[in-house]
Amino acid sequence: MNRFLDRPIVALLTSHWLSMLGSGLVTTAAISWLLVLPLQMRGHVDNPYLGIILFVALPILFVAGLVLIPAGTFLARRRVRLGLATTPDRPAAIRRFATFLAVTTVANVVIASQLTYRAVEHMETAQFCGQTCHVMAPEMAAYQNSPHSRVACVDCHVAPGAGGWFSSKVSGVRQLMGVTFNNYERPIASALESGRLVPASQTCENCHWPQGSGSVKFQVIPNFADDEANTATQTVLMMMVGGAKGAGGIHGAHFGPGVNIRFAPGDKKRQSIPWVEYSNEKTGTKRTYLATDAKPEQVTALPRVQMQCVDCHNRPTHTFELPERAVNRALSAGDLATGLPFLKKKAVEILRVEYGSSAEAGQKIPAALAEYYRGQYPDLFAKRGDAIADAGRQLAAIYQRNVFPDLKVTWGTYANNLGHTDSPGCFRCHDEAHVAADQATIKQDCASCHELLAVEEPAPEVLKTLGLAGKIAQSQKQ
Ligand code: HEC
Ligand code: HEC
Ligand code: HEC
Ligand code: HEC
Ligand code: HEC
Repeated sequence: MNRFLDRPIVALLTSHWLSMLGSGLVTTAAISWLLVLPLQMRGHVDNPYLGIILFVALPILFVAGLVLIPAGTFLARRRVRLGLATTPDRPAAIRRFATFLAVTTVANVVIASQLTYRAVEHMETAQFCGQTCHVMAPEMAAYQNSPHSRVACVDCHVAPGAGGWFSSKVSGVRQLMGVTFNNYERPIASALESGRLVPASQTCENCHWPQGSGSVKFQVIPNFADDEANTATQTVLMMMVGGAKGAGGIHGAHFGPGVNIRFAPGDKKRQSIPWVEYSNEKTGTKRTYLATDAKPEQVTALPRVQMQCVDCHNRPTHTFELPERAVNRALSAGDLATGLPFLKKKAVEILRVEYGSSAEAGQKIPAALAEYYRGQYPDLFAKRGDAIADAGRQLAAIYQRNVFPDLKVTWGTYANNLGHTDSPGCFRCHDEAHVAADQATIKQDCASCHELLAVEEPAPEVLKTLGLAGKIAQSQKQ
């Protein structure tokens, strides 16, 4: 044992190829670790999955190396003991160690500078977040179809600074475990629901200026009826978006100067909101609203949260559609031919059917549509077979970007809170049934949020006045 300890470290490390491999692994892992860590600390790379490299892969290599070194030494000593080899002399061992050092250094430079850097760069991209991991397929599909499709996932999902850095690494590793052991939740909880969403002040507000001056937003919403002609109508409204700096409107009402709104969600998905507190430092107003159907003692136990951008804009990018809306949009954009009788009605019906998998939907949806026209409109089917086949493919694509049977994501799984027609949205609070001590309520006055200029009209007067009649529907296909 003493002789073993006396032996210089070089001989120990180079006595067997296993030890050499072990020390190679140890140094490579250590160097890569040291290289990636500061890169991350400086905020160049924020990807949570980098934690998989930093805290799982590299440590495994490091430990494996540490195990191999003594194993190799043991084997080498055994070979000497059995007379299969002689104890290496010092100069030979040093020579061998020098060669070994040179080789591992070159390898490390290559690995560290090329592989690690490339891997880190790749992990920054939306492709990595959204595609490497199949679990993210729904979010990726909806993201690609949204105004933020050029914004990196990490810009909304990782807080800047060391705290965000650390927690994102921890959750990256936890998610990897979930996927590895196949015990992740299906559907995965929305980020607000699981409490893991980074506060909007650290994400949205880096790019959007909440104080922006007031504006109104003109919106034309297409609709198609369930009749044979798929009669087109339009809803036209002026949203009072406003701004925080004296401009009022929607934004000003919730976070203008001095305004502070807190609320207590009654469920994890925040679809019921029994308690709301409004305070305005400028006017000195402070009110606490309680839903008429809520019991005060139940409400006291609920957690309280600060209202932020994502309480209204919870789907700025993972915007899943409902069948009616998706079909309206596709008809309006010319992706579906408006000339096919009853297409709106039939399309929504077919989309509402449950299919076992995305692939199955890809086959059955076009088949069902073709079947319908072949049976009901044989002449039309003969003439417009191509348009019908194309419509079938478009419908399948709508299904495949909104419904993910294997992940239990279906129509309406993730509600959009920006509005009130498809889910409670604004009306979670604005229902005239949240009452303060002075009997004030949170109002449902249509005009304070939007000026309704036309509701499902075939030829809205206002569009004519603005010279837009017929122009907005120009992309439609017969
Ligand atoms: C513009 C900001 C933004 C970007 C960019 C973004 N997300 Fe999200 N993401 C959100 C918000 C906000 C939520 C929370 C929605 C909720 O809780 O209702 C969310 C939720 C999620 C969820 C939880 C499931 C769900 O739908 O609520 C996953 C998973 C997710 N995002 C993955 C991704 C991936 C992968 C990317 C990149 C391809 C990405 N996100 C890009 C804002 C963003
Ligand atoms: C990295 C910058 C960035 C971040 C972070 C970001 N956005 Fe955006 N957002 C944009 C850009 C750029 C656009 C404009 C896209 C366009 O006009 O095509 C946009 C557009 C929007 C729009 C208008 C969408 C429309 O239909 O016109 C809303 C609403 C919005 N963002 C909300 C949010 C919210 C809420 C968050 C936080 C969860 C957020 N954004 C985070 C860059 C960002
Ligand atoms: C009380 C709900 C609510 C809150 C909170 C809220 N918004 Fe909005 N915001 C709206 C509505 C409603 C619209 C109009 C959207 C529409 O109809 O397309 C809008 C529009 C926008 C637009 C598009 C403006 C335009 O003219 O196209 C942006 C960008 C935006 N919001 C960013 C933010 C950011 C950033 C925050 C947080 C600081 C925020 N919003 C907080 C309700 C809200
Ligand atoms: C968490 C509860 C809550 C939600 C959700 C909410 N609001 Fe509000 N809103 C309030 C409170 C509280 C007030 C201030 C009431 C008061 O003056 O006491 C308010 C005020 C307003 C006002 C000013 C009303 C007036 O009469 O001046 C507008 C406009 C408005 N909200 C629009 C919206 C829109 C649009 C949405 C949905 C995108 C929305 N709100 C969602 C709580 C909410
Ligand atoms: C608290 C604010 C608020 C109030 C009050 C409100 N709305 Fe809305 N409304 C919205 C928002 C936000 C949208 C969504 C706009 C969008 O799609 O971007 C909307 C959308 C609509 C739409 C279009 C639906 C579609 O097809 O997409 C109609 C119609 C409508 N509202 C009618 C009404 C009527 C009628 C009232 C009065 C009883 C009312 N709203 C009260 C905020 C409000």
